[in-house]
Amino acid sequence: MYVTYYKRYRMEMRIPLFGCRQDRLPQGYSLVPWDESLLELHADVKCRSFATEIDSQVFPCLGEPSGCFRLMEEIARKPGFLSDSTWLIAFHALDHIEYCGTIQGIADPVRSTGSIQNLGITPGHRGQGLGTRLLEAAIAGFAKAGLRRVGLEVTADNYSAVRLYQRFGFRRIKTVYKAVEAAYL
Ligand SMILES: CC(C)(COP(=O)(O)OP(=O)(O)OC[C@H]1O[C@@H](n2cnc3c(N)ncnc32)[C@H](O)[C@@H]1OP(=O)(O)O)[C@@H](O)C(=O)NCCC(=O)NCCS
Repeated sequence: MYVTYYKRYRMEMRIPLFGCRQDRLPQGYSLVPWDESLLELHADVKCRSFATEIDSQVFPCLGEPSGCFRLMEEIARKPGFLSDSTWLIAFHALDHIEYCGTIQGIADPVRSTGSIQNLGITPGHRGQGLGTRLLEAAIAGFAKAGLRRVGLEVTADNYSAVRLYQRFGFRRIKTVYKAVEAAYL
């Protein structure tokens, strides 16, 4: 066995008193609020968003449909799971609906902090502001729950995600290292 250490940043921002400004989604896209019947769809979008990205090396479960399904079940069962901060994005094509974005939120009322889980946009839908729109929607949910701060963890080499969070107003508060064991082939 050998171990790889991945550098990760904990980032936080203060939630504006009335939530963030929520811009419109590009034409053809809509936000879908949480419902338990959507758990499998969230897991599917999560898997298609993360499977070929660095985070599927850091958290191998993100690279497999069954791993993403289990993770979604765990998130949805957590005591602080916040449906108002959990959203899908649907793309309405001419003859079908394609789900292409997911975010989930967990609330910690004691620390008055919300935590963003696994923001993901599937590769064909990136670069149009959808990731930013999902962050806005999740933070609006945290604001509605009366939380003051929002936090997340991001892999330092995930440059586009780090840029997105910094642009949004998140600041690095801590650097941590995640050890991942792998077998020699
Ligand atoms: C990180 C991730 C969620 C970003 O999603 P996204 O929808 O592409 O995010 P946005 O569109 O809001 O922002 C991405 C880029 O598009 C640009 N953009 C936003 N709206 C735009 C528009 N209307 N026209 C052109 N470009 C636009 C942004 O400026 C940004 O540019 P930059 O990367 O050069 O800084 C996505 O890449 C992803 O799912 N990655 C894999 C999973 C992952 O790592 N998630 C983060 C875990 S912590």
